[in-house]
Amino acid sequence: MISRNDPCWCGSNKKFKKCHYPQLKNNSEAPKNYLKSYGIIIKNKKQVEGIKRACKIAAKILDKLCKAAKTGVTTLELDNLANDLHKKYDVIPAPLNYGSPPFPKSICTSLNDVVCHGIPDKTKLKDGDILNIDVTCILDGYYGDTSRMVIIGEVSEEKKKVVATSYQCLMESIKILKPGIKIFEIANVIEKIAKEKDCSVVNQFVGHGVGIGFHEPPQIPHSYNDIQIPLVPAMTFTIEPMINAGLRECAVDPEDKWTAKTIDSEPSAQFEHTILITENSHEILTLL
Ligand code: MF3
Ligand code: CO
Ligand code: CO
Repeated sequence: MISRNDPCWCGSNKKFKKCHYPQLKNNSEAPKNYLKSYGIIIKNKKQVEGIKRACKIAAKILDKLCKAAKTGVTTLELDNLANDLHKKYDVIPAPLNYGSPPFPKSICTSLNDVVCHGIPDKTKLKDGDILNIDVTCILDGYYGDTSRMVIIGEVSEEKKKVVATSYQCLMESIKILKPGIKIFEIANVIEKIAKEKDCSVVNQFVGHGVGIGFHEPPQIPHSYNDIQIPLVPAMTFTIEPMINAGLRECAVDPEDKWTAKTIDSEPSAQFEHTILITENSHEILTLL
């Protein structure tokens, strides 16, 4: 929790006690100051409504894709289905052509030791696989970003553990979110759970502000950090912990420049939600 002598959450650079203490209610200056101090876009009502709609559709598309992920199905077939679903809901897949080199597909499919940014291809899913499917869609210019794991058939105890741990890390870190909580506190929750389960937390990729753009400030690291920025109402961002069964280090494929794998080939798992900070708490926007 923010204490009296900390910098005020409104971005004024005054001490909390000299500024908005004891009420965290008067946040009228936060949008201006957060943009100026941190580049963080505090959303207005209309933007929040748009982001909520985009997030609901992202969640629906993700759910349908997860249900289609079965033994024998290729990740390319999942990408084709994703294209159909994006058309059906009249939304744009944000990954397609994103970044440099341009991401070539509409979703990310990250299998087993792939940590994130896996590219759909002709690989058939098989018994014993774990797969992350990551959907980001754009509706009327607003973004919703969410991902989940799918377990294919019978998987090893180690894979079960890393999937369950990544889910627990996400959901437990969401529970603490409310105005005044600082960004570093999110990672503290995640690191503690991962350690208890003898798993590691990836630090080369982070959660992020989202909504008006795909990746906005601030970064939301999942590993120990010292980002003192307090959360304020109408912030929207993702938490998306990547949890490894072995070492935390990943390496990006030098050929495709996207696929990130664990360096020890041990499995990795990830779940992601887009979150809205509300006046007293938070809302998970990417629930069905
Ligand atoms: N959806 C991913 C995230 O959670 C980003 C994917 S970028 C892409 O931030 F280009 F690989 F699609
Ligand atoms: Co994301
Ligand atoms: Co994502």
